[in-house]
Amino acid sequence: MRDPVCSTPLIAPMELVEREQALAALISGLASAADGEGRVALLAGEAGIGKSSLASRFAAAHRDTADVLWGACDALFTPRPLGPLRDIALHMQGALLSALEADRDRHHLFSLFLRGLRERKRPAIVIFEDVHWADEATLDLIKFLGRRIAAVRALVILTYRDDELDPRHPLRSVLGDLPPETTLRIPLQPLSEQSVMSLARNAGRTNEAARLHAATGGNPFYVTEVLANEGAGVPATVRDAVLARTARLSPSARETLDVASLSPGGIEPWIVEACTGCGAAGLDECVSRGMLRLVRGNYVFRHELARLAVLDALSPLRRRELHRAVLQALRSRPASPEMLARLVHHAEAADDHEAILEYAPAAGHHAASMGAHREAVAHFAGALRYADAIPPRDRALLLAAHAHESYATGDMESSISARRRAAKIWRELGEPLMEGDNLCRMMGSLISAGRDREAEEVSRAALEILEPLAPGPQLAFAYRTQAAQRMLQRDYAQALEWGEKAVAMAERFNDQETLVSAYNIFGCSLIQSDEERGCEYLEKSLALALDGGQQHLVFMAYANAGSACGEYYRFELADRYLAPGIAYTTERDYDHGRLYMMSLQALSHLYQGRWNAAADTALAVLDAPGRTSISHMATLVALGRLRTRRGDPGAMEALDKALELAEPTGSLQRIGPVRAARAEAAWLAGDAATTISEARAAYPLALAKSHPWFIGELA
Ligand SMILES: Nc1ncnc2c1ncn2[C@@H]1O[C@H](COP(=O)(O)OP(=O)(O)O)[C@@H](O)[C@H]1O
Ligand SMILES: [Mg+2]
Repeated sequence: MRDPVCSTPLIAPMELVEREQALAALISGLASAADGEGRVALLAGEAGIGKSSLASRFAAAHRDTADVLWGACDALFTPRPLGPLRDIALHMQGALLSALEADRDRHHLFSLFLRGLRERKRPAIVIFEDVHWADEATLDLIKFLGRRIAAVRALVILTYRDDELDPRHPLRSVLGDLPPETTLRIPLQPLSEQSVMSLARNAGRTNEAARLHAATGGNPFYVTEVLANEGAGVPATVRDAVLARTARLSPSARETLDVASLSPGGIEPWIVEACTGCGAAGLDECVSRGMLRLVRGNYVFRHELARLAVLDALSPLRRRELHRAVLQALRSRPASPEMLARLVHHAEAADDHEAILEYAPAAGHHAASMGAHREAVAHFAGALRYADAIPPRDRALLLAAHAHESYATGDMESSISARRRAAKIWRELGEPLMEGDNLCRMMGSLISAGRDREAEEVSRAALEILEPLAPGPQLAFAYRTQAAQRMLQRDYAQALEWGEKAVAMAERFNDQETLVSAYNIFGCSLIQSDEERGCEYLEKSLALALDGGQQHLVFMAYANAGSACGEYYRFELADRYLAPGIAYTTERDYDHGRLYMMSLQALSHLYQGRWNAAADTALAVLDAPGRTSISHMATLVALGRLRTRRGDPGAMEALDKALELAEPTGSLQRIGPVRAARAEAAWLAGDAATTISEARAAYPLALAKSHPWFIGELA
C-alpha cells in the first residue's frame, strides 16, 4: 500500500458556518467506529449545500487518528461501474486493485474491501461522494457495507442530493434498507439569514447582505460564488453567478474551461492540451482564479454546478465539436476498461454513432462483469439505437446481451422482447442453433413473470428446431429446458425422461450447468416416490453447483430442493435446504433468491406449528422491496393460512391477492397451494359450497398431474 491515508480532494476552504451539529454527529459516529461499532452517515442536501465541504473538513480534522478512504460517483450519462471503489483501490494499490483489474466477482471484491477495513490498525473514514449517481454495483457495495458495518471499525459517509431522488430512484431502497441502529441521518439545511449576513460582512459586502440571502435561499455555494466576484452585484441565478466569474478569464483559460466542462469526473491535462493547444498556462490561470482544482493529477471544477453552468453556456454546435475533440484525444490511447464509460459519454454527446457502436457494447460487457447490470443495460440499449447499421448477427448478439442484463435487473418484459427479436434475426439468418438457444433462454424470464404458458411454447419451439439437427450443447440445453418445464409443471415422469436425455447430452459435451440442473430436476421429481434417491440427486446437484461457484445455480439447487420437499410435506427435509440456502444468499446479498426461500420457509414454519416464526418470516418478505411475484404468492398463502387458523383478520385479503397473482401462471405449483388454502378458509368458516368450489378449481389440474398431495388435500 502506497499511503494509508487517501486524501479527500477538497481542502475545506473557510470556516464552515452552522455545521456544528452535523460535525458533532460525525464525530460521535467516528467514536463508535473506533470502539468497533461502525456507522453509516448519510449526508444529504441539495447541490451546493455543503456536503463535500463538511465531509472533507471532518476528514481533514481526523486524519491523524483515522485512515481516510475517498471515492466519488460521477455524472457521466452512464456512470463507471464501481467508480468509488476504483478511486480507493487506485490510491491504495495492492490486492483490491489487482482484483478489480482482474474483474473478480463482486462478492470477492466486496469481501476483500471489508477485510481491508477490518485489518486496519486505525479506524477508517470511508467517503463515497454523490451516491445519487451511483452505479448498481456501487449501490450493492453500500448495501453490503451497511449490513455489516456494526462489526467494522469504520465510519462510512455517503453524500447525496436528496432533492434529486424521484420515488423510483434505486438509491432510495438501498438507503431504506440500511439498519437504523447503525445509520446516522444528517440532513444539511440552507444557511440562515444571519449567517449569510455575517459572510457578506466578512467579505466587505454588507450592503448586499439582505438581497444575498433572498436571492440565494441560503445555498452556500451560491453565496460564496457571489461573494467571490466583487462588483457583479447579486446575479439572479447560480448560473449567472458562475458565469460572472468566468468573464474576466483570458481567451486561452476560457477555452480550457470549456473543454474541462465536458468531463464530469475531471480532465487530464494532456487531453486539454490536445484539444486546445493552449498548454499549461490556461490551466494555471483557471486554478489561480479558483475555477478548477488539481485532484490526483486531474483538473476538476470546484463544483459540479460550476461545471454545468459553463457547459450550458456552450452552443450545441460548439459542444458537439469539443466532445469530438475530446473523444479523438481519448481514442489516441489504448482504451482501458475503466475508460469505456467515458468514451461512451463523449461518443454520445458528439453524436458519433460509429464510436458508440465501437465502445458501448464493450462498456456494457465490462459493467456486466462488475455486476453493474443497470449500467450494462443502458450501454447495450445505447448501442442498439444505432444497430441498424451493423451486420444482423452483431445486432442479435447485442440483443441477447441486452436481454441477459435486463433479466439481471429484474426487467423481465424487456428481457423477453429482446430475446424474441434476437431469435427472429437468427431465424432470418438461417441459424437454427442460435435461434433455439435464444428461445431456451427466454424460459427463466417467462417463468419469473408468471407467463408459464409462453414458457411452454418457447421450450417446445426450441426442441422442434434443434432436435432434427446434430447433437450439441444447444440440444442439451433444450432438453434441460424441457425437463425443467415438465418439473415445474409437476409432470414428473416426463421430467425424468427429458432429464435423462439432457444428462446424456451434457456429459458428451461436458456441460456443467446442464448437469447441475438435470440432477436437480431428477431429485425434485423423485423425492415423493423414492426419497432416498431423490435426496441423493439433490445433494449431487448442490455439491456440483457449490463447486462451480455460480450463484444462480447454487440458489436454484437450494431453492428447488426446499420447494420440492415442502410440497410433499417433508418440512424437516425442506428446512435442511432452506436454512443453508438462506444463509448462502444472505451472505451474498442475493436478495430475490433469499426472499423466495424465506417465503417457502414461512410455509414450512406454519405447517410445523411455529406460528410466530411463520408470521415474522412472512411479514419480512412482504416488507422487502426485492421480492418477485412467486415469492409474493407463497408468502401470501402462508399468511392467509396463518390468519385463517388463528382467526385473525385479513386472511381473505391475502388469499385473494395470492389468487390474483397465481391464476395467470396456469401452474399447479402456484395455483394448488392457493386454492387449498382458500378451501381450508371456507371450510373453517363453515361454508361448504365455497370449500367445494375452491377445491374443484384446482383439483382437475392436480389430478392431471397425478400429484398425490394436492389431490389429497383438495379431494
Ligand atoms: N457551512 C458552510 N459555510 C460556509 N461556506 C460553505 C459552507 N458549506 C459549503 N460552503 C461553500 O459552498 C461551496 C459548495 O459546497 P460543497 O460542499 O461543495 O456542496 P455540495 O457538496 O453539497 O454540493 C463550498 O465550496 C464552500 O465554499
Ligand atoms: Mg459535493
